[in-house]
Amino acid sequence: MKKVMLVFGTRPEAIKMCPLVNELKRRSAKFKTVVCVTGQHREMLDQVLCVFGVEPDYDLKIMKPGQTLFDVTSEALLLMKDVIERELPDLVLVHGDTSTSFAAALASFYLRVPVGHVEAGLRTYNIRSPWPEEFNRQVVDIVAEYYFAPTETTRQNLLAEGKDEERIFVTGNTGIDALNTTVLPGYRDEMIDWASGSRLILITAHRRENLGEPMHQMFRAIRRVLDENLDVKAIYPIHMNPQVREAAHLELDGCDRLRIIEPLEVSVFHNYLAASCLVLTDSGGIQEEAPSLGKPVLVMRDTTERPEGVEAGTLRLVGTSEESIYSAFTELLKDERSYASMSKASNPYGDGFASMRIADILSARL
Ligand code: UD1
Ligand code: UDP
Repeated sequence: MKKVMLVFGTRPEAIKMCPLVNELKRRSAKFKTVVCVTGQHREMLDQVLCVFGVEPDYDLKIMKPGQTLFDVTSEALLLMKDVIERELPDLVLVHGDTSTSFAAALASFYLRVPVGHVEAGLRTYNIRSPWPEEFNRQVVDIVAEYYFAPTETTRQNLLAEGKDEERIFVTGNTGIDALNTTVLPGYRDEMIDWASGSRLILITAHRRENLGEPMHQMFRAIRRVLDENLDVKAIYPIHMNPQVREAAHLELDGCDRLRIIEPLEVSVFHNYLAASCLVLTDSGGIQEEAPSLGKPVLVMRDTTERPEGVEAGTLRLVGTSEESIYSAFTELLKDERSYASMSKASNPYGDGFASMRIADILSARL
């Protein structure tokens, strides 16, 4: 029996790791599955654990208000040392590009425990964007022994860096596994009823490199477009970072066709995505989910490590300046052809069976 430890700490990691946790737990004859959450996020992590019914074996509870990258990395690194030494897993699985992933991979490397990287190989090759995630992801790929690349493009990135072909597996993204279980035809609730008869816009924003002036510009652009288009309503489930909240309330309060609400349970969020007409975001995961549902996304960033959705036509990078977001958003609302060209459903990020593939690979390889 092989012991596999999965480590994660933030909302998006949890959304993409819980399907894998549950898949490995279903194979209990083969694997002893240990779940360690750092608690880099608290409420937003717990929401996801609850939806997927995952109870962690370890919760390092590191989150504190206003935490810096130093806080998260150093706390997670030291506490992970104790957990790994105690459990001595055959493999540690980390996900993506967060500080939790970086610290857990580094702790495993220091203790000579093999690392598997779920969602490996995504790149912008701009170490400052996304910041610090591009660095985190590249470092995890330096120490990893197994690469679960979601797409062929990400496999090619790893090959170009000289990673061993035998250790790279194209699996699809486990985030799509989650999406396939949550969207219900005809879903309705109070918010959907509020928006019915209007075009619904879904908004999220949280990136560290956008905090401050870029985020103010993003919100100002959104405000202008909403003020000018009376048939549009927007829902903005806001990240819990107080800096995000302050900027959003300053720029967006007072518009009765925009509702700022608490973070949504992932299943509800996916249904709002399905009901929306378009999405404005700087999120990574939403760039993967929206193409599956054929929802155009204006990506409020200068770079993306997810070019597949841009190539498929669903994602458009619009930067973070007020003018560029305002004009792209306005165009999409007014120009039907432009909207139609972006709203075709495609599946560049996976078919919903990524967790099964990863578990199969681990069965064969460990
Ligand atoms: C982190 C990840 C980012 C990921 C994002 C997902 C890093 C460096 N960044 O960024 O890659 O896209 O999560 O959302 O790892 N907070 C709460 N409760 C919560 C969650 C957050 O109060 O449940 C507040 C806290 O004040 C916390 C702040 O948000 O200090 C920022 O959280 P943090 O994890 O440091 O950064 P994120 O921007 O969320
Ligand atoms: N999400 C959610 N509730 C919300 C907003 C987003 O469950 O209120 C989900 C969304 O479906 C996606 C993930 O959270 O799967 C994206 O997380 P986030 O934007 O925080 O991080 P990123 O993907 O940018 O790392």
